[in-house]
Amino acid sequence: MTLGELIRDTEKRFRAAKLFYGHGTSHPGDEAAWLVRRALRLPFDAPLEKTVGAKGVKKIAPLVRKRVEERIPVAYLLNEAWLDDHAFYVDRRVIIPRSHIAAMLKGKLLDKEPARILDLCTGSGCLAILAALRFSRARVVASDLSPAALEVARKNIARYKLGKRIRLLESDLFEKVEGRYDLVLANPPYVSRRAMRTLPREYRYEPGLALAGGADGLALIRRLIAESGSHLAWNGLLLCEVGDGRRALERTHRGARLQWPLDEVFSLRKGVG
Ligand SMILES: C[S@@+](CC[C@H](N)C(=O)[O-])C[C@H]1O[C@@H](n2cnc3c(N)ncnc32)[C@H](O)[C@@H]1O
Repeated sequence: MTLGELIRDTEKRFRAAKLFYGHGTSHPGDEAAWLVRRALRLPFDAPLEKTVGAKGVKKIAPLVRKRVEERIPVAYLLNEAWLDDHAFYVDRRVIIPRSHIAAMLKGKLLDKEPARILDLCTGSGCLAILAALRFSRARVVASDLSPAALEVARKNIARYKLGKRIRLLESDLFEKVEGRYDLVLANPPYVSRRAMRTLPREYRYEPGLALAGGADGLALIRRLIAESGSHLAWNGLLLCEVGDGRRALERTHRGARLQWPLDEVFSLRKGVG
């Protein structure tokens, strides 16, 4: 059987099963290609005519079954997620990376390179790592409330050989954070209580602590806005992802000078306005 045939068969199974996408791909074809290629440890550009032996085909079958019958996201089946062309180790201790902030890190954020960066709610450490790669002289603190998530972040930081520049911190938001930062990143939990009840099955494999943001989803974000001033350096920037919370925040934080580079992400600059 060829790689192309195996991917097409898998895509058909996925399509018929009416899966939910949104943990790395948005389409059954891409999801099938990701599962098959990476389970076989092939690069994404391996030719579709390549022959896959019986052993390879046998390796895919149980993974497809778990994706279809148990709705386990591909990233957890492979222990691998991709964000901004970078691979991260993931398991069920962390949410699957998909933050909009990753793409924003590639643009111009500040007038000068940030020397100190804080990634709150770091999960797998993906944003802390992308920030450290983008700003090669910056020192980064990556913090999370979950010790289990921090273990996963530790693994990814070691994989990228960034242990000297990224320090891990167990903290409830800013509680244990010391000093001031030029750039603070945050992708906090922001799913409302009502939305938590209707999430597709795939989300139930992700830690509740990474998703649930209180009654209206904005509990942590309100704290973040209130407390960020004491942790930002002069001219420092907070970038915070809020899902679909923009309208609610605009109503309740009229005086807060929030800017919206994306509908899902606000920025707040210390000392401007
Ligand atoms: C949406 S995930 C984001 C993970 C990662 N930054 C990403 O973009 O993939 C939110 C993270 O916030 C952490 N978290 C939840 N409540 C927290 C709190 N009060 N203080 C710090 N981290 C918290 C969770 O453990 C989870 O890892």
